[in-house]
Amino acid sequence: MQLIPPQPPLTDGEIVLRLRREQDMGAIVEASRDPETLRRLDDGPLREEAQRQSVARAERQWATGKGAPFVIADARDDRPLGLVNLQLREDAAVANLAVSVFPEARGRGIAARALRLCALWGLRDLGLARVAAEAAVDNHASIRAIEKAGFHREGILRAHCETQGERHDCVMFSLVAADL
Ligand SMILES: CC(C)(COP(=O)(O)OP(=O)(O)OC[C@H]1O[C@@H](n2cnc3c(N)ncnc32)[C@H](O)[C@@H]1OP(=O)(O)O)[C@@H](O)C(=O)NCCC(=O)NCCS
Repeated sequence: MQLIPPQPPLTDGEIVLRLRREQDMGAIVEASRDPETLRRLDDGPLREEAQRQSVARAERQWATGKGAPFVIADARDDRPLGLVNLQLREDAAVANLAVSVFPEARGRGIAARALRLCALWGLRDLGLARVAAEAAVDNHASIRAIEKAGFHREGILRAHCETQGERHDCVMFSLVAADL
């Protein structure tokens, strides 16, 4: 089932969640080389072919209903600050959130805002039953951002996530429809 991007775009006055554009690619490519991003996410630096296809790939995610890949942009000047992706599961009632904030924009609450906006859209507008977010047990910035976004801590899943060929224990969080 196709996913329709929210119109007007989701905003809390500080950030806007909008579609990916070619003009964002410089910042996205640069951030894909950031050591902390490489350590925490299981994608390598974006290669040329992947860069060329990035906007089309994001559009395909929307069109096939597999996910809602948003650019997190500054509400004042539309500058890209990071990425947040709501990934839908097969059963379509449950989704996972993944977030990254570009290095120069970190520590200003951007991730917490983006996680909250995106999760509330999923629960209220898409009618999801559950939105999950997870972080490696030593990813303190991510854990803190997820907590600030209002997610409930469920517990630790051992050897649950894999990055750079290594498995890590992860803290699992969720927001469910009953939390609203
Ligand atoms: C994790 C990430 C998304 C956080 O983005 P952000 O916009 O800086 O997050 P926020 O500003 O909303 O919150 C970060 C919180 O973590 C805290 N924090 C940052 N580094 C920390 C550390 N090493 N130890 C403890 N807390 C830390 C900050 O103080 C802040 O909390 P506060 O507002 O209570 O002071 C960003 O660092 C990132 O993109 N990292 C690389 C990719 C990644 O790890 N993605 C998540 C994968 S699960």
